Parts: sequence; C-alpha cells; structure tokens
Amino acid sequence: MLSAAAYLHGNGGDEVEAEPEAKGMAAGGEASEVTGMRLGVVGFGKRIAYVINRELKQLEPDLKVAGVVDPDEAGARGRLEAADREAAVFYDGLDEMVGAARLDALCIGTRCHLHAPYAVEAAQYDLPLFLEKPVAISMEQASALEKAFENSRCQVVVSFPLRVSPLCTLARDYLCEGAVGEPEHLLAVNFVPYGTCYFDQQYREFAITQCLFLQKATHDFDYMMYLMGASIARVTAMAARGRVFGGSKPAGLYCSRCDEQETCPESPQSRARNQTISYANVDHPCLFGEDIGTPETGMNEDSSSALVEFSSGAQGVYTQVFFSRRDAGRRGATISGYQGTVSFDWYDNQLRRVRHHRPFSDVSRAGAEMSHFGGDQELARDFLGVIRGKAPSRTPIHTGIQSIYACLAAKQSAETGRWVTVRQVGQAE
Ligand SMILES: NC(=O)c1ccc[n+]([C@@H]2O[C@H](COP(=O)([O-])OP(=O)(O)OC[C@H]3O[C@@H](n4cnc5c(N)ncnc54)[C@H](O)[C@@H]3O)[C@@H](O)[C@H]2O)c1
Repeated sequence: MLSAAAYLHGNGGDEVEAEPEAKGMAAGGEASEVTGMRLGVVGFGKRIAYVINRELKQLEPDLKVAGVVDPDEAGARGRLEAADREAAVFYDGLDEMVGAARLDALCIGTRCHLHAPYAVEAAQYDLPLFLEKPVAISMEQASALEKAFENSRCQVVVSFPLRVSPLCTLARDYLCEGAVGEPEHLLAVNFVPYGTCYFDQQYREFAITQCLFLQKATHDFDYMMYLMGASIARVTAMAARGRVFGGSKPAGLYCSRCDEQETCPESPQSRARNQTISYANVDHPCLFGEDIGTPETGMNEDSSSALVEFSSGAQGVYTQVFFSRRDAGRRGATISGYQGTVSFDWYDNQLRRVRHHRPFSDVSRAGAEMSHFGGDQELARDFLGVIRGKAPSRTPIHTGIQSIYACLAAKQSAETGRWVTVRQVGQAE
C-alpha cells in the first residue's frame, strides 16, 4: 500500500535519475530536420496542443514537436504551432515514431480510452512521459498499466494540474505545519459551471468517459489524497442520471435544426443572452437527446457524490454537480482537525485558515487567474524538470493509477449501493 509519505511528496520516495543514455536510444531512421528538445506526441488534440503550445513552449521556446501519431493528420497539423507545422513527421504507430524521431520525451493526449494502451507501450522506452488523465477507464486497463510500470524506468508526469496548483500546495504546506493538527475530515466540492460539455460535446460519449467519477473526480480524488497524506481506502457513492440531462429528443439533433431555439435555455442564443457558458455561441448537439444514453444503457451523471474513508481513518465527502452555471461555480476543499480548519476555493482563488483555539483567522489571496489555477504551468515545469533529469515528477504514474482505483470503486459503489474497498497500488489483485 502507498505510504502517507508517498502522497506527501508525490513521488513514492523515488529519486529521479539522470538518464543520458535514454536520450539517444531512438537515434537513426528518418529523423526530421528539427533541433532542440524533441517531443513525440500521440494524439495531438485540443488539450495537449494547449499544454505544448502555450505552457511548455513558454518555458522552453526551443522545444519542438518532432513526431506525431494521430490518424487525423490534417486536424493535428492545424493545431501545431507554425514552427512545427511543416517539420513534424507523422507516424503510424508509437514504436515507429520512437524508432525514427530521436525523441527526448513523449506526450499522450488522446481521448480517455486510449491513454492506458499507449502508456503501457510507452513504459518500455525510458523516455519521460506526459500522460493525460484519466490514466485508465477500466480495472483491466489500470491493472495492465500498473504491471507495465512495475519495473519501468519511464518517468511519468500525470496531467493533474489541481494537485500541483499553488493554492493546493499552499494548503498542503499549512497542513504539514500542523494548521489543523491531525486532519480528521475533508469536504471537497465541485460545482462545475461548464458541466454541459459532458452532454453537448464529445465527452457525452459514455463508452469513452465511463462516468464522471473517472472523467472528473480523478483530479479531485487525487488532490484529496495528497492533502490528507493518505490513500482512499474505501468508498460508498451515488450518482444521479437522466434527471436533468438526456431525454427523448431525436438522436443527432442540433440546436440549429431545432424548433425550440427561442425557448430552450441551452440554445446558443439563450446561452449568449444569459451569459451562461463560455462557449455560448457554438451550435451543438441537444442535451436532452436520446443519443446521450439512459441510466440503463449508460450515461454521464447529472451529479454524483462519494463518502470516503482514508487509510489514516479520517473521513471525506466529495460531491460534483454538472448543471451548475455562472457564479455557482465552486471547486475546493475544507480540511478540519481538532486544532483548526483550512479551506480554499480555486474560483475564489483564496485560502482561509482558522485556528480553533487561538483568536486568529487569516485569508491568503492568490494572484491573477491562471489556466487550471496555475496548475498547468506547474505541470509544464515538472515535465521539463524530468526531461532534464533535474526534478522528480510530483504526479508520477502511481498517483494516476491510485486515483483510478478510487474512481472505479466509486463507480462500482454507485452501481451496487454498497461500500467498496479500494484497490491499492502495489497490492496483489
Ligand atoms: N488534465 C486536464 O485538466 C484535462 C483537460 C482537458 C482534457 N483532458 C483530457 O485530455 C484528453 C484529450 O481531450 P481533447 O479535448 O484534447 O480531445 P481531442 O479529441 O481534441 O484530442 C484527441 C486526439 O487524439 C487523436 N486520436 C484519435 N484516435 C487516435 C489513435 N488511435 N491514436 C492516436 N491519436 C488518436 C484525435 O485525432 C485527436 O487529435 C481527454 O482524455 C481529456 O479527458 C485533460
């Protein structure tokens, strides 16, 4: 089982070794002309394009996308920065790319169901890996991933921006200083003001998301374990489906072809008028359509909640709500112990510390708004540190897998109505 220290430091106690020999291992073949730090990317979609073009390149302007594996070459090329657009070589598979492109590091940015299969393959290459979340969407995938990384030298930065965001690490610092004494209780909330994307964009495909515990709570379960310095040991959960979103509108219906555009609060016109969502003006599939699925066939939840017990014996409550809008957005946690309470909210961008037994309370305010509350920049710094052999990952592969074990337990509990013991990384199946 993972120790509290492993969560505290986020690296399981492993030191990162500089591995110069790994850098040259893929030499030879049809390398392109690019120079500088060379990235190979599997699935060059919107999220990884943001991470690379905006965050990584800001810190390392000389970084190049040297190779890409993506069946949608035109779409992926369109997302590449001008400097990479001509030079990047597209490959049919990861093995071919690693063999030919003389890479310094890999990124996996496909959609959820392909993260684990590609990461299992990447585990054999020793190249630093930036891996999108969720790292797996089933127990089979998570088990295969854990096995593949048992003896791997591949250092992974799992894309968990919340854990490494400055507000979360400040909360962890306070907890380590004894701000609450022994953490006994955690309440974490996620009122998602952009939650419609799980019903009107590609994330509506249940076959790929496998529920919003896996898609969304994987971040929250991870930072909850980090803050508490303890793994989630068991969970009971519930999920509400088909009460708000989903319905009987015909499959394939878009707002532009719907005769309820004037009255439906989700039409682009209504959203723009009421300023309800940032992507207001985009024509989109109906949120009340039969193609979203049903509770019986599988669909994303309107809201879901989990009661958890940490390995320390402390208790936690987590709830996520996907129909919240506008100023209702909240995400953060309150951690309590006998000595005090520490609470923070990423939307408010501030942390509050209350001493229970002295007459002082204080508020720490964070700086200007940043992507994922500053977490994406921290992830980019971590990844470059791992590539240079200078710093360990704060979100290594076991954090991604342990979070998935907790998410899968929550999913199973919501389906069965029973407490489920969470599998622990390193524990036999
Ligand atoms: N960490 C975060 O905070 C965060 C934020 C947003 C999205 N995400 C995650 O990022 C992932 C990608 O989301 P997105 O919105 O960028 O999706 P996307 O559809 O824009 O990108 C996926 C890419 O994978 C490519 N692809 C499809 N099949 C492939 C295959 N067999 N091999 C290689 N590439 C293939 C697609 O052509 C596309 O370019 C999702 O899993 C999502 O959960 C994470």
